[in-house]
Amino acid sequence: MATLETPLEAPKAGQHPAWKALKEHYAKIRKLHLRKLFSQDPARGDRLAVEALGIYLDYSKNRITDETLRLLLQLAEESGLRAKIDAMFRGDKINITEDRSVLHVALRAPKGTSIFVDGEDVVPAVHAVLDKMAGFSERVRSGAWKGHTGKRVRNVINVGIGGSDLGPVMAYEALRYYSQRDLTFRFVSNVDGTDFAEAVRDLDPAETLFIISSKTFTTLETMTNAHTARAWSLAGLNGDETSVAKHFVAVSTNAKEVAKFGIDTANMFEFWDWVGGRYSMDSAIGLSTMIAIGPDKFRSLLDGFHQMDLHFRETPFDRNLPVLLGLLTVWYTDYFGSQTVAILPYEQYLKRFPAYLQQLTMESNGKHVTLDGTQVAQDTSPVYWGEPGTNGQHSFYQLIHQGTRLIPCDFIAFGKPLNAIGRHHDILLANVFAQAEALAFGKTPKQVKAEGTPDWLVPHRVFEGNRPSNTILAERLTPETLGKLIALYEHSVFTQGVIWNVDSFDQWGVELGKVLAQRIVPELESKDEPKLAHDTSTNNLIRRYRTLSR
Ligand code: F6P
Repeated sequence: MATLETPLEAPKAGQHPAWKALKEHYAKIRKLHLRKLFSQDPARGDRLAVEALGIYLDYSKNRITDETLRLLLQLAEESGLRAKIDAMFRGDKINITEDRSVLHVALRAPKGTSIFVDGEDVVPAVHAVLDKMAGFSERVRSGAWKGHTGKRVRNVINVGIGGSDLGPVMAYEALRYYSQRDLTFRFVSNVDGTDFAEAVRDLDPAETLFIISSKTFTTLETMTNAHTARAWSLAGLNGDETSVAKHFVAVSTNAKEVAKFGIDTANMFEFWDWVGGRYSMDSAIGLSTMIAIGPDKFRSLLDGFHQMDLHFRETPFDRNLPVLLGLLTVWYTDYFGSQTVAILPYEQYLKRFPAYLQQLTMESNGKHVTLDGTQVAQDTSPVYWGEPGTNGQHSFYQLIHQGTRLIPCDFIAFGKPLNAIGRHHDILLANVFAQAEALAFGKTPKQVKAEGTPDWLVPHRVFEGNRPSNTILAERLTPETLGKLIALYEHSVFTQGVIWNVDSFDQWGVELGKVLAQRIVPELESKDEPKLAHDTSTNNLIRRYRTLSR
C-alpha cells in the first residue's frame, strides 16, 4: 500500500498559489451580475452545465467566470485532490485521527473487485453480509419470518441515531413509492420517550420486529431505546425471553455488545470500522431499506452509488459533478463569506434529504483545525438546511430573494413524477425553474416602475437578483438515482474537506456533550440532593429540574 503523506507534509489550505489568485480574482468579479454574465455570453447556460450518469447539473447561475472555474480547478489540483481520491479508494488510512481507512466506496464495489484494508480484501465480506441481508429481507417480506407467537411480522422499527437513523429514514421516505405497502416502517432515534411511545402506540408486539442499529452499540440514546423496546416487546409476549430472537436483530460492528444486550449474534448484520456512521446507509445499516424495497432494488441503489464513485474517480475535474459542486461551495464559503447552503428538493419523497445531508456535510467538515492540528485559515463547512419545494417558497424563500445574506441554493428536480396526477408535475417544475430564474436575474427598479408601481413602493418590490443556484435534474427518482445523488454529495463533501485540509471522517466535536450528559444523569436521578460542582448556571438548571420533575 502506498503511504499517505504524513500530516506534517500535507499541503496547507490557504497557502496554495490558487488561494491568493482567487482572492484577487474575487475582488475583481464580486459585483459582477448574473444578468451581465448571461447577456455577454448567451450560450452560458449551455456551456456551464454537465450531464453524467443521467444527472444534469446546471451550474451556470453561479457567480463565476471561466477564470473563476480555472482557478478553482487549479486549487483542486494544488490541494492534491487527485492523490487524495486515489488514497481513499486504495484503502489508505486517510481518517488520520482515528487511524482508519475510509471505504464506504467498498460497500458498493461489485462482486469480483478487490479493495484491501490491512492486506485483506474486504469486498467478499461486504457481499457476504449483503447476501445475508437479502435472505433475511426476503423472509420478512414474504411472511416466512414469524414472530414468537407464529404471526408474521407487519411492522419494522429501526432504532438508531445519527448515521444509524438519518440514512435509513431518508432512504425509506425517498423510496417509499417502491416499498412493500403491507409492511409498516417506523424509526425511533430520540431519547425523548415520546419518540418511542408514538412509534409503537398502535402496534402489536407479536407483529413487530426491531432492528437495533448502532455502529458502536454503546450510544446512550440507542441503547436506552433498545432496552425500552425490549421491555415493551417482552411485556406483550408474556415475558418470554426466547421471543427476543424472533423480534430483535442488530446491525453493528460490535458483536460483544450485541451479545451482551441479548441478541443472538446469528441475528447480527455486520459492518466495519472503515465505514463512518454518516456514510453507512448502504451498509447493513440499510437493512430496513432493503426490507422495504427488496434486495434487487437495494442492489440498484448500490449500483447508483458505484456509478458515481467511478465518475468521481475517473472523470476530469472540469466535468466531474462532485468536484464542481464541492469547489462551488468552497467559492461561496471562503470568498463570498456565505454561511449556509439551502438544499431544495422539488420532490416530496426527498423530504428528509436535507436532514440527511446535514449530518453528512456538517459532521464531516465542521472542523476548526487542519490535518496537522493547526487552526484553519478560512471558514470550513457551511450550514446545510432546506425543505422541499414548493413549501419552502411560502416560508423562507423571502429571505433568500430579498434578505441581506447570500444563500447559494441547490435545486433538485426530476423530469417524471412518481405519482402523475393531472398538471401537478408541470406546476411543480415550473416553480423550480422560476425560482432559480428569479434568484439569478431578479427584477430591476425600472421593471418595477414600468408596472405602474408608485415610487415609494418600488424599493420594496425590487429583486436584486444575483443569487446563485445549482439545478440538478434527473429523469425520475429511482433507487439507482438516489444512490447517485447521495454519492454526489458524499464526494462533494470529500472535495471540500481536501481543499480545507481537514479530517472529514472524524467527529470529536460530539464527544464533550456526551461525556457531560453521562455525568449529569446521576445528578438528576439521585434521591439525595447531589453535591454539584458545575458553573452556577448549570447548577441552577439542575436544581430547578429536580424540583420541577418531582
Ligand atoms: O454522535 C455522533 C455519532 O457518533 C455519529 O457519528 C453516528 O452516526 C451516531 O453518533 C450514532 O453512532 P452509533 O451508530 O455508534 O450508535
